[in-house]
Amino acid sequence: MSITLQTYWNNRFEAGDIWGTEATPSAVMAYPYFAADQAKRLFVPGCGYGRNSNFFGEYAFHVTACDISEVAIERASNYAKAVGLSNVKHFVGDYLNLPFPSTERFDGIYLSNILHMYTGEEREKLFHHFTSHLRKNGLLIFSCLSARDEKYYGAGVELEKDTFLVENRIMHFFHENELQEMLQDTYQIVEMTLHNQRIDFEAGAEKDVQSWFVVARKK
Ligand SMILES: C[S@@+](CC[C@H](N)C(=O)[O-])C[C@H]1O[C@@H](n2cnc3c(N)ncnc32)[C@H](O)[C@@H]1O
Repeated sequence: MSITLQTYWNNRFEAGDIWGTEATPSAVMAYPYFAADQAKRLFVPGCGYGRNSNFFGEYAFHVTACDISEVAIERASNYAKAVGLSNVKHFVGDYLNLPFPSTERFDGIYLSNILHMYTGEEREKLFHHFTSHLRKNGLLIFSCLSARDEKYYGAGVELEKDTFLVENRIMHFFHENELQEMLQDTYQIVEMTLHNQRIDFEAGAEKDVQSWFVVARKK
């Protein structure tokens, strides 16, 4: 587990619920898919302070959620406990090194703004890693930055194609065909649409970013 990464996220989350307390639009859009599938067990890696893991928990799914930041997990767990969500289990952990048996499979995996934080090689590894914990016919649902975003695309230093270093953080902006290519061997794409997502809630600085909402079924 990288201390630097953990410290970075802990510091950010010390400031509070930095993206608000509501579930992300993509979690709200994901819910009917998981419900229609009668998914029972969901995995939410990189859950942050729990705005989405607890949202799914409120719909009675059995949710396993992890984050590298103990500040975030403490807040997520406290909320779950306060409202009696015994069906949501949060733990501090690196999603690259999960404490599950390699045979562990979930009915659904939900990723909010995770995949774009990496270089191409890292994204591929992470994508296959998450896929290995999804059962056949299970749903992978995620949001990620889009290369069609006009406000943020191109800011910072370009490290790789469509991948920029902004304030020492990697931001990759996905093209539609790139997502199709990433998914096509192991998934059937069910929905791939753009939506707006609020990313900055500082007073007077509310910012929206255009993101992909992707629903894919494991073959
Ligand atoms: C952009 S934030 C998104 C948080 C959350 N998904 C949400 O939308 O509220 C990325 C999250 O990934 C977590 N994270 C980064 N690297 C991680 C890792 N290797 N293992 C687990 N969590 C990680 C961070 O602590 C942070 O909460």
